[in-house]
Amino acid sequence: MRHFTNVNDIGDLREAVKEALEVKNNRFGYKHLGQDKTLLMIFFNSSLRTRLSTQKAAMNLGMNTIVLDVNQGAWKLETERGVIMDGDKPEHLLEAVPVMGCYCDVIGVRSFARFESKEDDYNEKILNQFIEHSGRPVFSMEAATRHPLQSFADLITIEENKTKERPKVVMTWAPHPKSLPQAVPNSFAEWMNAAGYDFVITHPEGYELDPKFVGNARVEYDQDKALEGADFVYAKNWSAYADPNYGKVINMDRGWTVTAEKMALTNNAKFMHCLPVRRNMIVSDDVIESANSLVIPEAANREISAQVVLKRILEGL
Ligand code: CP
Repeated sequence: MRHFTNVNDIGDLREAVKEALEVKNNRFGYKHLGQDKTLLMIFFNSSLRTRLSTQKAAMNLGMNTIVLDVNQGAWKLETERGVIMDGDKPEHLLEAVPVMGCYCDVIGVRSFARFESKEDDYNEKILNQFIEHSGRPVFSMEAATRHPLQSFADLITIEENKTKERPKVVMTWAPHPKSLPQAVPNSFAEWMNAAGYDFVITHPEGYELDPKFVGNARVEYDQDKALEGADFVYAKNWSAYADPNYGKVINMDRGWTVTAEKMALTNNAKFMHCLPVRRNMIVSDDVIESANSLVIPEAANREISAQVVLKRILEGL
């Protein structure tokens, strides 16, 4: 594998999950792959899970790691070509990226949607500049439109916990006070469609996702109806995708919070969320603390998804 930015880069999903379960049982069995290799992790945005799990995965593989929080201590970066740089940004991404590439063998990038330009966000302007100009394999640690390491961990978690070959998986929008990107729901939809599950997306009107990611999923505007018979409930907030409301919160209807009453409509479903989660906005305390909540094993599988991706990149060097 050279780069990892979406579900197509991982190839056959059955093989990927099989490899993930092997790695999970033998985390330190591939240490030779990363010897004398350096991973550079670049964060344009905050992180807890991605930062820790990816660093741990790299260490399991024997790699050295460098972490750079671009907004804490690095020069402010200009990202637009053609700008007269007489403002507060002393360095251009077009120099910074190849320089970063000089100090490492593999680069992970976290760069969320900025909501300044839908076109720039959906063209993955920042991530693609790393792919084009760093000279190194690049993997997404959540970009503007996708969070593939999270979705891979979600897939592993569903495969470990499913009790039927083709479970019903429901992704439900839930309320949140701030504008959040569509990366996690886009990506989850992309991976669930590729896995071939019975996949339903439910959200209030106005929160329709890019049809490219919705794919073959059934869209149901009645949350209660969508939850009927669900085996897995994946809660997530996202802001509006459609113009003219791109990136905006258009309602915060707390009737969409995932509560015990909502979970009672399901087939004793497991509850999932990528975290961080706002309790009693997205999900009630009792649901996230219940025996059916998978949020902690799901986060634990972030180490495994990152390790499979890094392993495959190292095998390709
Ligand atoms: N789920 C996830 O990516 O968590 P962080 O934002 O804390 O990395």
